[in-house]
Amino acid sequence: MLSKITVVGAGHVGATTAQRLAEMELAREIVLVDILEGIPQGKALDEWEAGPILGFDTRVLGTSGYEETRGSDLVVITAGVARKPGMSREDLLTTNAGIVRQVASRVKGTSPDAIVLVVSNPLDAMCEVAKRVTGFPRERVFGMAGVLDTARFRTFIADAVCVSVEDVQALVLGGHGDTMVPLVSYTTVSGVPVREFLDDATVQRIVRRTRDGGAEIVKYLKEGSAYYAPSAAVAQMVEAIARDKKRLLPCAAWLEGEYGQRDVYLGVPCKLGRGGVEAIVEVPLTGDERRALERSADAVRGQIEFLRRAPAQARSS
Ligand code: APR
Repeated sequence: MLSKITVVGAGHVGATTAQRLAEMELAREIVLVDILEGIPQGKALDEWEAGPILGFDTRVLGTSGYEETRGSDLVVITAGVARKPGMSREDLLTTNAGIVRQVASRVKGTSPDAIVLVVSNPLDAMCEVAKRVTGFPRERVFGMAGVLDTARFRTFIADAVCVSVEDVQALVLGGHGDTMVPLVSYTTVSGVPVREFLDDATVQRIVRRTRDGGAEIVKYLKEGSAYYAPSAAVAQMVEAIARDKKRLLPCAAWLEGEYGQRDVYLGVPCKLGRGGVEAIVEVPLTGDERRALERSADAVRGQIEFLRRAPAQARSS
């Protein structure tokens, strides 16, 4: 169990994440932060009061400042605006970069030893902003996307094969969004390659649905984007860290030559433990998968470059 976890952003993703972390007793204290006055305080109090019913002793505290977050072991950044219908992840780039920049700078000052788990979108570019502003090593700044994308992929595969989701193993790499790379060659049902169960057209349909998984939900919700599965994905990653489980999970990690890529955040299999990203695991890829990963890296690099060139708007907001 960790001492203190801070969740920045008390919106749909942040508040649900705080609730899951408290229910799993992953820290003695969860601090929920938002620029809004009253919302984090009210939601945190409500979540804390569920403790006696659900049987958890984690203290949940809401605040609109950073003093209470001081000395956090782990900070989850969900602050930002959510994607609206017709809004691409790229549309979010400038606004959310300004928000993540501001949050990261407060985190650096108050929790210099924290592990930072970024959730705000566009994910890979926001990770880069958080890493640059905090100056933390790559082991301590990474993002949640692959666990969610993989969960969506596994859901649809299990449904098509008509087996338990628990028996479907899969890996989705690359950037979060249109350029994600589901690795069909590593997708199995209890070790049996998925192609033994599904024809290629079905698999490709599922790949497309996974790629558009976020947009499919935005279309229904109209106001706001997914948060139940995203918060579950964050909780799984936090559990791997808090309990030092050494789980192999896809994370958005800063690459320094792995997969032939450098100076870019990209979804790759990582070993997650108390040290954060303790190792990046390189798996052999087919030519198509490698090319798709390269395209994904180029797209993320484009966003990072765009932000570096962006005028003060993105830096000061
Ligand atoms: N500091 C702290 N909180 C902030 C800041 C800031 N500088 N700017 C905005 N927020 C808060 C908002 O006040 C809001 O409560 O972030 C919260 C975002 O909540 P929602 O609008 O409900 O968005 P949510 O669905 O939680 O998504 C948040 O996660 O999955 C991603 O794409 C999603 O980037 C989005 C983020």
